[in-house]
Amino acid sequence: MKHTDIKELFEKSEKYLNAVQTVCGWVRTWRDSKSIAFIELNDGTCLKNLQLVFDKEKLSADSFKDALVVGAALQVEGEFIPSERNGFEMLVKSVTVLGGCPQDYPLQKKHHTLEFLRTIPHLRPRTKYFEAVFAVRNKLSFAIHNYFQEHGYKYVHTPIITGSDCEGAGEMFRVTTMPWNLGSKTEQEYFAQDFFGRRANLTVSGQLEGEMAAMGLGKIYTFGPTFRAEHSNTTRHAAEFWQIEPEVSFADIHDIIEIAEEFIKYIIKYVLEHCSEELAYFDERVEKGLIDKLNHVISSDFAKVTYTEAVEILKKSGREFKFPVNWGCDLQTEHERYLTEEYFKKPVFVVDYPAEIKSFYMKQNPDGKTVAATDLLVPGIGEIIGCSEREADLNKLVNAMKIRNMPLEAYGEYLDLRKFGSVPHSGFGLGLERIMMYVTGVQNIRDTLLFPRTVGSL
Ligand code: 4AD
Ligand code: MG
Repeated sequence: MKHTDIKELFEKSEKYLNAVQTVCGWVRTWRDSKSIAFIELNDGTCLKNLQLVFDKEKLSADSFKDALVVGAALQVEGEFIPSERNGFEMLVKSVTVLGGCPQDYPLQKKHHTLEFLRTIPHLRPRTKYFEAVFAVRNKLSFAIHNYFQEHGYKYVHTPIITGSDCEGAGEMFRVTTMPWNLGSKTEQEYFAQDFFGRRANLTVSGQLEGEMAAMGLGKIYTFGPTFRAEHSNTTRHAAEFWQIEPEVSFADIHDIIEIAEEFIKYIIKYVLEHCSEELAYFDERVEKGLIDKLNHVISSDFAKVTYTEAVEILKKSGREFKFPVNWGCDLQTEHERYLTEEYFKKPVFVVDYPAEIKSFYMKQNPDGKTVAATDLLVPGIGEIIGCSEREADLNKLVNAMKIRNMPLEAYGEYLDLRKFGSVPHSGFGLGLERIMMYVTGVQNIRDTLLFPRTVGSL
């Protein structure tokens, strides 16, 4: 259908002004009076609506009465003209209703609660809020690719279906084609009959395969869906989320922390530059001061603190936390948020966590207690990045796996990396939805995904 995007009309207005144009879109709102009628039309290409003006002296009311319907899809021909109040508007010559919209269309009001909109995920991209969310998600994804492409990383595609567990937290979804009532005597017998002849899962992380790629390609990154069967029903956990995982050969923990900070600043700066309209909307409607916050983040250094120091800070905080703090405990969201929001008041890397609370693959520090791992915590959310130098020593790695009772035979290829030309290497995982929440101020992870999958909700 030949037509011009509304974004194009607004952005290159000189080119289109005072000439007849065709636009398409959906009716957001309309108003009718004696001599004139108005429609706010949106086509999804930009947040701004195009105001359509129907002059009843020139157009018969019958010719556009079916267009004065919230949610209807229109194709409109008219003159694109300057307007005192709106900057620009369109003086309609003719209108075709592409798709009518009966009264039971749920988006009749101008504002709906986010809770209500979550019940109609198939329609919410037609609201300004979600138009802004998905515009930012788009640019953020593009910025992520840009950063890695400009810095010599190769984009690799790691498998979605895997036989191994990367994080070892038992949060994997099983993939199977088996009937539920096979009546097998043992687990082994059961899985032997399945599609792959063994147990298969949806990946929780592309890291292990990413490391294998990095051991030949040098610097790689993944960007794809990952899956966690966590029962944590929070505003920050989804069962299906997108993760970005760079893996860098010849890099130690200090190198990867530098990369992570530069990367986060790069993508925030990109969004500030390319989504100014959307960020202004979020600043006004969702988080006051959002743009100032983001500008501050890109222009100041992130804080850094060891886990051991962080525990001391938390103990001395005088706070009554729901989960008490002791050296060796996993930091809970309440602790993370105290550190980043109240103590440091900016993003902070917590480094050198106790080995017991972290994954098997992390480099063991000389103190024999901690690992070269860091989480990046940000105000309002908590952890957005999980990062570490990987254990490159075969014996130490095997030891860590034995302590965790891991089946070594399932990790033969991973161990080979430490046998054949092992090198120091490091990487991290950024949750796309978590950084989305940070740059938009959106409070619930369910509102950053097109179709959120969370426990009990598909
Ligand atoms: O800290 P995690 O578990 O680290 C890994 O998976 C490593 N293999 C990454 C690596 O070193 N390559 O997860 C990484 C990030 C978290 O910091 C968080 O941002 C996000 O993934 N994340 C989730 N996001 C949404 N919902 C969930 N259930 C998430 N679990 C983790
Ligand atoms: Mg983590």
